Amino acid sequence: MERVVTMSVLFTPITLPAPEGPGLVLRNRAIVAPMCQYVIDAEDGVPRDWHLQHLGSFAAGGFGMVTTEATGVEARGRISPRDVGLYDDEQQRAHERLVTFLHSQGAAAAVQLAHAGGKASTFPWLPGQPDGTVPAADGGWSTVSAVDGPVLPGLSAAAGLSREGIAEVVAAFAAAARRADAAGYDAIQLHGAHGYLIHQFLSPLTNTRTDEYGGDEEGRTRLAREVAAAVRAVWPAHKPLGIRISATDWVDGGWDVPASARLIRRLAEEHGVTWVDVSSGGLGGGAAIPVGPGYQVPLAAELTRQLAGTPVVVSAVGLVEEALQAETILATGQAHAVSIGRAALRDPHWATSAAARLGIDRTELPRPPQYWRAGW
Ligand SMILES: Cc1cc2nc3c(=O)[nH]c(=O)nc-3n(C[C@H](O)[C@H](O)[C@H](O)COP(=O)(O)O)c2cc1C
Repeated sequence: MERVVTMSVLFTPITLPAPEGPGLVLRNRAIVAPMCQYVIDAEDGVPRDWHLQHLGSFAAGGFGMVTTEATGVEARGRISPRDVGLYDDEQQRAHERLVTFLHSQGAAAAVQLAHAGGKASTFPWLPGQPDGTVPAADGGWSTVSAVDGPVLPGLSAAAGLSREGIAEVVAAFAAAARRADAAGYDAIQLHGAHGYLIHQFLSPLTNTRTDEYGGDEEGRTRLAREVAAAVRAVWPAHKPLGIRISATDWVDGGWDVPASARLIRRLAEEHGVTWVDVSSGGLGGGAAIPVGPGYQVPLAAELTRQLAGTPVVVSAVGLVEEALQAETILATGQAHAVSIGRAALRDPHWATSAAARLGIDRTELPRPPQYWRAGW
């Protein structure tokens, strides 16, 4: 009898290229999106058991790669006091424990390196918590951004970074990248999205500087390019470097898709960036965002089109929740991979379930052998 072979793009391995060597091979194209947990009561940035089970369950759940939550490259870069960091030895040891477990389950491990800038020191986005900036008396801190003033209404005024201050931020990214390598991470995703520091510099909405870090696109992209260069310089050449961007502010006169495509092409050509995760928004205040199934996929599709011929792997994110939806996005060439957020919270085994749904042979499902009797 003939064997029926199911073809699934989602469950075909993909390589994130690196400047040297074969690159990073993911067992499939389902990536867990970064998701802040706000669970560190000690406010010391050290990931704990919660993070191990939270991220670990996605690895056991069959994803090709798991991305950590936004991980501060310095204490004042954390989004909230309860966020993860990677700027001291204790944090690094805890990250190493996470990575070891993710690897044991067959998943690659990516760390999202982040600096929240003027959107740092905010209350955790948890039920019952207020909005806005945590006051110093409650463990908050002074924030920094491209210019003086609040990044968004309701936030405390940030202080515009001096050139020396910018150099310190760039150095903090590089130091965190060194620690990420020591902890065993396979990939770095720079957080260039959602209105955090790198995006605050990219967007004309928040960067009105008049020096070489502001003004035209060359100036506004300088911080992103310097961070990528500094990280690439210390991150091993056989490991891929990626970035998450907000491809549009959804506001006239804001950051947009053509600028995103130009930036990513340049980061690829000049700084070896080979992965872009395409999100949107974060600075537009009252911007009308057309939220619905796959609402950011057209942004990823446009970047995929414009970046054709480069080594950059494009991942789409945002209400990609169904196996067939994800498969269609990839099969129609709108992106090379998908990032899954909330659907993975609801079902950490989303990837295994999707593989079963797409007809992958039971013997080849990405699930731990001890779960074989679950009956996918
Ligand atoms: C609980 C939660 C925490 C999040 N934290 C982060 C984060 O740390 N970094 C980031 O870039 N995006 C963060 N996001 C956004 C997600 O990564 C993702 O882009 C967004 O939820 C849309 O994808 P989805 O519809 O698959 O959830 C978070 C989302 C959720 C639901």
